Amino acid sequence: MADHTDTDILRLVRIRKAIEETATTRTIVFDDEYSVASMPGQFLMVWIPQIEELPMSIGIESFENLKCAAVTVRKYGLGSTALYHKQVGEHIGIRGPYGNHFSIPENLRNVLLIGGGTGLVPLVRLFSDLVHDRIQTSLIMGARTKEEVIFQHKVQNLLADNKLNNCVAFSTDDGTYGFKGSTVDLAESILASKKFDMMYTCGPELMMKGVQKLGERFSIPVEASLERYMKCAIGICGSCCINDKLVCQDGTIFDSNSLRQLTEFGVSYRDKSGRSSYFISQK
Ligand SMILES: Cc1cc2nc3c(=O)[nH]c(=O)nc-3n(C[C@H](O)[C@H](O)[C@H](O)COP(=O)(O)OP(=O)(O)OC[C@H]3O[C@@H](n4cnc5c(N)ncnc54)[C@H](O)[C@@H]3O)c2cc1C
Ligand code: FES
Repeated sequence: MADHTDTDILRLVRIRKAIEETATTRTIVFDDEYSVASMPGQFLMVWIPQIEELPMSIGIESFENLKCAAVTVRKYGLGSTALYHKQVGEHIGIRGPYGNHFSIPENLRNVLLIGGGTGLVPLVRLFSDLVHDRIQTSLIMGARTKEEVIFQHKVQNLLADNKLNNCVAFSTDDGTYGFKGSTVDLAESILASKKFDMMYTCGPELMMKGVQKLGERFSIPVEASLERYMKCAIGICGSCCINDKLVCQDGTIFDSNSLRQLTEFGVSYRDKSGRSSYFISQK
């Protein structure tokens, strides 16, 4: 278990801005110096008073010319829907940052990022860092349908001063925007004609499993950000285990070598009660 620090103590923050990303997804912006100092891939535990506490990836937004912390939430069940409806001026509780972060090895030259849904929160942060570090980066952004595409303006702004041929490609399951099909299918077609040193992925687990398989096939190292049910985020409750690892402490980012050892990756997960369920492959 990690040593406890100030960041394990709940901090109440006031919502300063809310951005409508899509009809079902909002970004909630607030001040928090710890989150602003976090690295892409780290997450917060967000307490929605009287409802629930949920893990959320940390985003960065600007507000009144200052860097602020943000979470981007897609309304789904009770907790996320309550967070989605929080208004400017209301308070939420946060603790963290938790978890490790994506690593950027030296001499990295050409990188492919593959993200789906709110998995794009850490990947777009990483994209921004890589672009600023002048590492050539291609980003695949996946959604089910055109109306669910998030962060389009954000990435277009990042491409404004594009001297390195960084690029962004979109895929939707129904073909209403960009490539028709999965992010993995699109990645496969890009890999057929271009070489990459590294792939990073975050999103639905079966998508990340597909990226891991591409990594093995094309001999490209992969880092994936895993999602498991989390109650404590500090290594006590064991609810986030995958094989003998705790996703909140040992992850959430796992590299190719670790992913190979995780026989439950892309196969099974645990629900709120700890019972094992199986992912259902679409193919
Ligand atoms: C590290 C991490 C980062 C995440 N980042 C984001 C993000 O940026 N944006 C976003 O919208 N969602 C994110 N999630 C998912 C989010 O925490 C919730 O799982 C999701 O919002 C659904 O919660 P709910 O209470 O609305 O739904 P429920 O109906 O209560 O639950 C639906 C399903 O969500 C999952 N879930 C619920 N509570 C938790 C929990 N405490 N920990 C993990 N899984 C849970 C379970 O699989 C459950 O079956 C992240 C999850 C993790 C683990
Ligand atoms: S969430 Fe409790 S040990 Fe990871």
